[in-house]
Amino acid sequence: MKKKFNVCVAMGTRPEVIKLAPVIKAFRKLPGIAVTVLVTAQHRGMMDEALKVFRISPDHDLNVMRKGQSLFDVTSRILQAMPGVLAKESIDLMVVQGDTATTFACALSAYYQRIPVAHVEAGLRTSDKYRPFPEEINRRLTGVLADLHFPPTLQAQRDLLKEGVRPRDILMTGNTSIDALGMMSRLGKKFSDPRLRRLMASSRKIVLVTLHRRESFGKGLRDVLLALRDISLLSGVEVVYPVHMNPQVRAQVQDILAGGKVHLLEPLAYDEFVPLMKKAYLIVTDSGGIQEEACALKKPIIIAREKTERPEAIEAGFAELVGFDRVRLVSSARRLLEDGVYYRQRCGHKNPFGDGRSSQRIAAKCLQYLKQQKLRRGK
Ligand code: UD1
Ligand code: UDP
Repeated sequence: MKKKFNVCVAMGTRPEVIKLAPVIKAFRKLPGIAVTVLVTAQHRGMMDEALKVFRISPDHDLNVMRKGQSLFDVTSRILQAMPGVLAKESIDLMVVQGDTATTFACALSAYYQRIPVAHVEAGLRTSDKYRPFPEEINRRLTGVLADLHFPPTLQAQRDLLKEGVRPRDILMTGNTSIDALGMMSRLGKKFSDPRLRRLMASSRKIVLVTLHRRESFGKGLRDVLLALRDISLLSGVEVVYPVHMNPQVRAQVQDILAGGKVHLLEPLAYDEFVPLMKKAYLIVTDSGGIQEEACALKKPIIIAREKTERPEAIEAGFAELVGFDRVRLVSSARRLLEDGVYYRQRCGHKNPFGDGRSSQRIAAKCLQYLKQQKLRRGK
């Protein structure tokens, strides 16, 4: 029997699972490929929740998360655990996604073993090495290590070409987050939390919030949280905030919002979060993936960051960057909540992040690449 190519898909956080689940599905449809799923479990709880939603069982689990781990801890733990997996598996291609510690450390580990690397969601740049921190540099370093680059947009493709990546190693695919969204729309869901059930049935305007970026910790995050408190006092509005598990985020949220009107929830499973995004009137976030999803769902977004590597969301009209400015955030939210004409202008555009078929393109290109490599080696 012809030997299949062994493609290792590596992931460690919630968003990586969400964005790689459709890629795994697409690989599994190709008869020439066997998929090995490797998780670092950099996010133990949130990653596991996402694995459950997509019914993915990892073949290898590095279980690196420790409470309150530093960037040194997480990166070095992954690097130390990888040789064990690489000794057991004969991997033909390592597939990583995005910009996390897992992305970078798994790409570097593959390189040390001379295994080619495919980078999903390549080429996003702010060109500011500290914004987002440390993701901008994780993504750039992964780009240096990668053999195949899958930028989601034309802008990301241009940035890769500008950095000297060869055109034949690049395929613009759209973002696989849109494919994952499509996988959810076919599922019905009962909400486990009674508060969420009530909010889903409410006729008030839902302002959905997520925040977790390291560069905001301290005064920036404090001012954003104060703005949310202000917004929660507006009439006819419910601010709903599933709080990220990073303890530094939780401490500040507890300090500023506990006991107030903002609904503080535990992180939601993706199949609960998607219906909540659909229900939301407005989204306030510093997340990367949610900027893409909001455009696909035609929801206006206020980005609580100083820079974004997804300028397409702003250019398309859905998003607005307000930094950590309390006054600006509140006045942007008020305008969207109170001016219906402006609201409709903000969300009547075309989604710039893809058509929901990105994963098929990625899987097909990887297979083509592996066949070419084999031919070359055979010569
Ligand atoms: C990480 C990624 C970030 C990504 C984000 C998505 C890095 C450096 N950062 O940030 O790019 O946008 O995930 O959410 O890779 N924790 C738990 N349970 C969980 C998850 C986290 O307890 O399920 C706590 C742990 O104490 C952990 C801390 O959160 O030490 C921080 O997690 P970590 O993965 O280091 O970084 P994030 O801030 O989540
Ligand atoms: N998400 C989720 N539950 C939540 C909050 C977010 O499933 O309570 C999903 C969201 O739909 C998106 C992803 O998690 O697909 C974004 O993750 P996060 O904001 O942690 O990371 P980023 O996208 O910034 O890397």
